[in-house]
Amino acid sequence: MQVISDILPLREQRRQWQIEGKVIGFVPTMGNLHEGHLGLVQEAKKHCDVVVVSIFVNPMQFGPNEDLDAYPRTLENDKKSLEALGVTTLFTPKVDDIYARGLEQQTFVEVPGLSYMICGASRPGHFRGVATIVCKLFNMVQPNHAFFGEKDFQQLQIIKGMVHDLSMNLTVHGVPTKREEDGLAMSSRNNYLTPEERAIAPKIYANIVGLGEEVRKGRRDFLALIAEYKGKLNAVGFKVDYIEIRSADTLLHPSHEETKLVVLVAAFLGKTRLIDNIQVDLS
Ligand code: PAF
Repeated sequence: MQVISDILPLREQRRQWQIEGKVIGFVPTMGNLHEGHLGLVQEAKKHCDVVVVSIFVNPMQFGPNEDLDAYPRTLENDKKSLEALGVTTLFTPKVDDIYARGLEQQTFVEVPGLSYMICGASRPGHFRGVATIVCKLFNMVQPNHAFFGEKDFQQLQIIKGMVHDLSMNLTVHGVPTKREEDGLAMSSRNNYLTPEERAIAPKIYANIVGLGEEVRKGRRDFLALIAEYKGKLNAVGFKVDYIEIRSADTLLHPSHEETKLVVLVAAFLGKTRLIDNIQVDLS
C-alpha cells in the first residue's frame, strides 16, 4: 500500500490512474478504523479498480468544546488494517496543507437547510466543516465513487446534496451500519465508554428498533411516541439530545402519506455522544 501525505504526488498518481483507465474509489475517514470503515473499503473494492482511503482528523468539523484533541489517533494500526484489505493508497494530508490560510480564512461549502437541522442544530458549524473537507478531498482525489456509512445518515444526505448541487462528477454510495453483536453501532467514539456505559450503550439501538416497530404497526402520534422513547432512554442512563422521525428522502418532518421514514437519535452516555438511526419502510 502506498502512503501519500502531500497533494502533488496524489494528483500525479491520480493522473496515472486516469491514463490507465482505472475506476477510482474513495473512502474518507478520520482514522481509528473499525469494522464499519473496513466494510466501506470492501464495498469500494466491489465497484472500483483502485481504492484510496484518507485519514484526516478534520478540525473544521469539531466545535470549541468537542473532542478534537482527544479524538483517537491510531495511524500505525490503521495502516495495518488497510494494507491487509488491499487498499491501493492511503492519503494522510497535514492540517497545515489542508487549511494553509487558517480556518478563519478558509472558503467553505455549506448545504443549507439540511445542515441546520437535527445534529446540525446541536452542533452548529459541524456540517459546514464536513462538507468543506469532503469537497476538498473530492477535489484532490477526484474519485469516480465515494463511500460513506449510513450510521451518519444526515452526513450522507448532506454529501449527496453537495454532490448534486455542485454538479460533482462522482457517485456517492451509502453503506449499511455495521453493529456489534449486541446491536451497538460501530463508532470510534465507543472507545470513550466506560465498561458500565458500554453495557448500557446497546439500548440506544434496541429503543429505536422498538420505536420503529410501533410505527410499522400503525402508530402515528409521533410526538407522543418520541416523548415516550426519550423517557425510556433517559431512564436507563442516557441524556437524550434528540429523537426524530423524519422522511428518509428529505429529512423533513414526514407527511401522513410518507412511506420511507428514518428514526434518528443522539444521546449522551456520560461525556460520550452516541448517534444511531434505523430506516422504516412502510411501503
Ligand atoms: O464520517 C467521518 O468520519 C467524517 O465526518 C468525514 C466524512 C471523514 C469527514 O471528515
